[in-house]
Amino acid sequence: MNDSATLWWDKEKDSLCYIEQTLLPGEYRIIECRTVDRLATAIRRLEIRGAPALGVAGAYGVALATRTITHNDFAPFMDGVREAAGLLRSTRPTAINLGWGIDRVLATLATARTAGEASDLSLREAETIAREDTACCHAIGDNGAALLPDRCTVLTHCNAGALACSSWGTALGVIRSAVKAGKDVKVIACETRPLLQGARLTAWELERDGIDVTVITDSMAAHFMRAGAIDAVIVGADRITHDAVFNKIGTYMHAVCARHHGIPFYVAAPLSTFDADNGERDVVIEERGRDEVTVMGGRTCVPEGAKVKNPAFDATPVGLVTAIITETGVLRQPIDTRSHLSLPKSH
Ligand code: MRU
Repeated sequence: MNDSATLWWDKEKDSLCYIEQTLLPGEYRIIECRTVDRLATAIRRLEIRGAPALGVAGAYGVALATRTITHNDFAPFMDGVREAAGLLRSTRPTAINLGWGIDRVLATLATARTAGEASDLSLREAETIAREDTACCHAIGDNGAALLPDRCTVLTHCNAGALACSSWGTALGVIRSAVKAGKDVKVIACETRPLLQGARLTAWELERDGIDVTVITDSMAAHFMRAGAIDAVIVGADRITHDAVFNKIGTYMHAVCARHHGIPFYVAAPLSTFDADNGERDVVIEERGRDEVTVMGGRTCVPEGAKVKNPAFDATPVGLVTAIITETGVLRQPIDTRSHLSLPKSH
């Protein structure tokens, strides 16, 4: 099964490389990113996307900043690094991992006294974050695989796969681990309007791994649940507060439908996605541009005078979630996201 990286540091080029996700599935292109400005653009454009991958990107972004900011004195150099970190942090507001990755690397710079030390320390920490993310995904996969029946069809929304992480994936990590353990898992991937992460990315990675995948439009999900064609729903998360799971717009709709039809609704996410001290009302849902909704296949499909809304995420009340699968174990109802640190090592 494919376990290659989505983004990584190229030591020879001393730069960040990543798979450009807006071009998939038509074109597989690796981008070499040398500046914070280019990385900020890549994150805004969703060339790199998905909460855990954003955490890794933010971390490498600080390493990029330490390499591109030139100043003879250390204090103004660090001011520049913090300013660059602020720019990266502002690119997308909802996924908590972005700021988490940036802050973890900034914290290691507290002991740096020179730009050289800062550049070494930041890269070392970013590499650690990337490695840990892969390890978390495999642990999430193993913990979640045990929840799936030996033969099942799982519905997923958006892309919570290798492309959304350092590798392997969270929701798709569970599916990969289950298949690896010999289970017969079929996947229904919702296309995920407006940017089609499900149709373009989830279907691409699963097909590449030889996992049975069927793409449906988002509005078909309730129909297939009612028809008894779905045994479980598994999604990722961008942020988990004490009362809600924030994930790609449309996730809440699946949770409501799953509850109505008695289908388990699982969320797979690393502890770095938890924001248990905050509640739903504290979270900013990213509102994206009009064109993402109005232009399809290069054609404008909405009259100019019509207003458009484009929230990128929604909030699913924790009460609708059957269980949250993390790298340290499985949180079941009644789910208390504040208890996550004391979870046992296995479910
Ligand atoms: O706008 P995107 O593509 O970054 O949204 C991604 C999602 O909503 C994912 O489901 C989420 O980040 C979890 S990824 C493991």
